Amino acid sequence: MAASFRYTALLLALISATGALLPQEANATDVQFVVAQQVAFGQGFVITGNTSSLGNWTPTSAPLMSLASGSESYWLLTVALDAGLYVEFKPVRVVYDTKEALEWYIGSNLNITVPVNSTTVYIQWNGSSSLTAQPAIATL
Ligand SMILES: *[C@@H]1O[C@H](CO)[C@@H](O)[C@H](O)[C@H]1NC(C)=O
Ligand SMILES: *[C@@H]1O[C@H](CO)[C@@H](O)[C@H](O)[C@H]1NC(C)=O
Ligand SMILES: *[C@@H]1O[C@H](CO)[C@@H](O)[C@H](O)[C@H]1NC(C)=O
Ligand SMILES: *[C@@H]1O[C@H](CO)[C@@H](O)[C@H](O)[C@H]1NC(C)=O
Repeated sequence: MAASFRYTALLLALISATGALLPQEANATDVQFVVAQQVAFGQGFVITGNTSSLGNWTPTSAPLMSLASGSESYWLLTVALDAGLYVEFKPVRVVYDTKEALEWYIGSNLNITVPVNSTTVYIQWNGSSSLTAQPAIATL
């Protein structure tokens, strides 16, 4: 009895410790980034910023965007970020195969406070950024 009680207590302690370490999992929001820009063959974009899932400002560690199907100029990336997190980020034009940085987004860091529901962030590469909650891909 005592041993089983101690085991249960240990298990509960482990579960609560794990919960405290991984609060992200509970309320992650899918944030879709869209960069509208054609690039030379062999190039692409990453989105990097100050959180580990965006490579902590290191393009080679950041997630690569994918071309929207049938498009040559809409790059897409969906990243799960914690709701409520404030993140600063920029797209970087890179060599597609190596993520070697070729050109950083011009201007101030972009930012988002991650909402509860999934959202799309539309970025104009030329620096006149507009961050909006909606335009669906279909309307771009
Ligand atoms: C990102 O940087 C901003 C400005 O320094 C800071 O307020 C924010 O908490 C940082 N976000 C993360 C996820 O570290
Ligand atoms: C976050 O971005 C908006 C533009 O989208 C800007 O007005 C604001 O100053 C930025 N916030 C910070 C702390 O840089
Ligand atoms: C989030 O999405 C749910 C389900 O679609 C909706 O009921 C709710 O109003 C949304 N919340 C916000 C803050 O937009
Ligand atoms: C940036 O690109 C958009 C869309 O191509 C265009 O409407 C806008 O005038 C451009 N802005 C600058 C400053 O070049």
